[in-house]
Amino acid sequence: MSLALHSFKATDFRCLAAAELEPDSRFNLIYGNNASGKTSLLEAIAYLGRGRSFRGAATQSLVRHSAREFLLFGRIEQKDRVFGLGVKNGPGGLLVSAEGAHGGGAAELARRLPLQIIDPEIHSLVAGGPEERRRYLDWVVFHVEPTYVEDWRRFRRALKQRNAALKAGATRDELHSWDQELSCQGDRVHLARERVFEVALPTLTVFAEGLLQSPVGFEYRRGWAEGVTLAEALATGRARDQQFGSTQSGPHRADLRLSYEKGLARRLVSRGQQKLLSCAMVLAATAIAQSKLQQRLLLLLDDPAAELDSGSLGRLMERVVALDCQVIATALEPQSRLFPQPPLMFHVEQGVLSKVC
Ligand SMILES: Nc1ncnc2c1ncn2[C@@H]1O[C@H](COP(=O)(O)OP(=O)(O)OP(=O)(O)O)[C@@H](O)[C@H]1O
Ligand SMILES: [Mg+2]
Repeated sequence: MSLALHSFKATDFRCLAAAELEPDSRFNLIYGNNASGKTSLLEAIAYLGRGRSFRGAATQSLVRHSAREFLLFGRIEQKDRVFGLGVKNGPGGLLVSAEGAHGGGAAELARRLPLQIIDPEIHSLVAGGPEERRRYLDWVVFHVEPTYVEDWRRFRRALKQRNAALKAGATRDELHSWDQELSCQGDRVHLARERVFEVALPTLTVFAEGLLQSPVGFEYRRGWAEGVTLAEALATGRARDQQFGSTQSGPHRADLRLSYEKGLARRLVSRGQQKLLSCAMVLAATAIAQSKLQQRLLLLLDDPAAELDSGSLGRLMERVVALDCQVIATALEPQSRLFPQPPLMFHVEQGVLSKVC
């Protein structure tokens, strides 16, 4: 299985004026003091594969102070083919170029450079609201079912139109035509999620129970009441939706519920356990996508040791290593014992990156 980021360059991204990296195809460690630029570098690499910041930052805060725009460029090997992938963003908006041709957006980037991230905020996948878990599930569906992105876009468009009609005070009859389109597209999104969830469940369970060392349950909730179709849920909910001015039933309200021992994982587990459970979800998604795509993914680990005791960190890294992906990790110190073999090391200081020989 191939896929490796052969080289990467970030220009004017956060504190990185011009940072260049030629990572190893397996294990890489970037170390440096607080505020040296470690997370910024991972954020830049992740931006090249996602078209957005994993820290949720707006474009303007990603552009280096006093610069106008940032540029990211990577050379990527996928199934024995090496190609260039570039991104530029600033006042002119997002510009993507792949293999020398301009065009495409976040979906194009995600296809060209599939990656996953574990950062110190990862626990919010378990502890936060359903939106992150929907996004997580959608990432898996996107890689398992290539036509999903189009269904999802159509659904979002239909939802936007129905919500606009609700806000404009549309009558029940006017809403009826929007309901048909929304329920048709919504069913497609839900069915794809449900199919992929069924396939993913055993892998999710193995990773979660392996890392937490106790039983964990996952349940997919589709976003409207059981026992009725989406069309019925939309019809019976019209008066309520008119009151709210937005659609209250549908796949945009779906969730991936987790249970751990006797309650919801969100309430019960400690912060370290929330992190482990979230990491398990990310690693399971990586394993599923790798097996479907038949290529290795890039896994970015920002300070993986944060909040984990040495036993938990050991179990996490064991599974990371077993996944056989390309790993770029960060740490405050040059700790090579994270990996079973010495990683390629880079030191970063005030946004300047250098290879450690
Ligand atoms: N747009 C920007 N332009 C210039 N510098 C920025 C910009 N955005 C953030 N910074 C600075 O970049 C520096 C590096 O931040 P970063 O989060 O990458 O550090 P880090 O090495 O991950 O630190 P820690 O170990 O604390 O996590 C910080 O000093 C931050 O203030
Ligand atoms: Mg950091």
